[in-house]
Amino acid sequence: MLDRFRLPRRMPRSEPELPASARTVAIIMDGNGRWARKRGLPVLAGHRAGTAALRRTVEAAPGLGIRSLCVYAFSTENWSRSDDEVRDLMDLFRHTIRTEFPQLHRQGVRIRFQGRRDRVSDELLGLMTGIEEQTAGNERLDLYVAFDYGGRAEIVDACRRLVADGVRVEEIDSAALQARLARPELPDPDLVIRTSGERRLSNFLLWQAAYAELVFTPTLWPDFDGEALRAALQEYAGRRRRFGGRAGDR
Ligand code: FPP
Repeated sequence: MLDRFRLPRRMPRSEPELPASARTVAIIMDGNGRWARKRGLPVLAGHRAGTAALRRTVEAAPGLGIRSLCVYAFSTENWSRSDDEVRDLMDLFRHTIRTEFPQLHRQGVRIRFQGRRDRVSDELLGLMTGIEEQTAGNERLDLYVAFDYGGRAEIVDACRRLVADGVRVEEIDSAALQARLARPELPDPDLVIRTSGERRLSNFLLWQAAYAELVFTPTLWPDFDGEALRAALQEYAGRRRRFGGRAGDR
């Protein structure tokens, strides 16, 4: 009768041990607008400076031990910004894929987009698939660009695929759902960084970030660089040291 109050013999799965250095890092690039406003510039200037910050960060990542980097470039909610800002952002994405991403290609970066593809212009879509094909054989760093991306929509889509694939109820588990995510090959992030002082996930990688460490920095995204990335990784490593010991050891 008391059986159901007994503790299970094996405890439920605990938080996995953090790897010594973060191999997979995800970044919510926030603060472009505030960076521009502080300087009395149009918001587009902030997004342009944000693009330069992305380039610096991608270039610094492999030297810091990062193998996969996933950045939140445009959310499913970002369509609600003004027509002018959305148009400017789409122009900037086109320009960046044309002029900046080929340089990342030469540095061995494999680029993949993650998110919906049915709401962009044919031209942008062509550029996205083109750079994915061009960089497919690169192995130095995987860069995932979350574009027209939302974590809830990704999970809903995965559920739809489970049904469409005829998966039986008893066969549904984490692996079956994971296999149906937009990018099943993206490893779970060890670390999620958000810039600009905001402390929310904002619908980013909701499934994948289940066990991620979170680092929030007041730095606005356009000011982010390799040094700021190194500082975030140091904070991550410090947490590992703190939680690796037993209470009372320190
Ligand atoms: C947040 O700033 C950033 C975005 C809406 C995404 C745009 C990101 C870039 C342009 C970086 C480069 C990326 C690529 C793929 C070229 P915000 O406008 O939300 O800032 P705010 O909260 O201060 O207004």
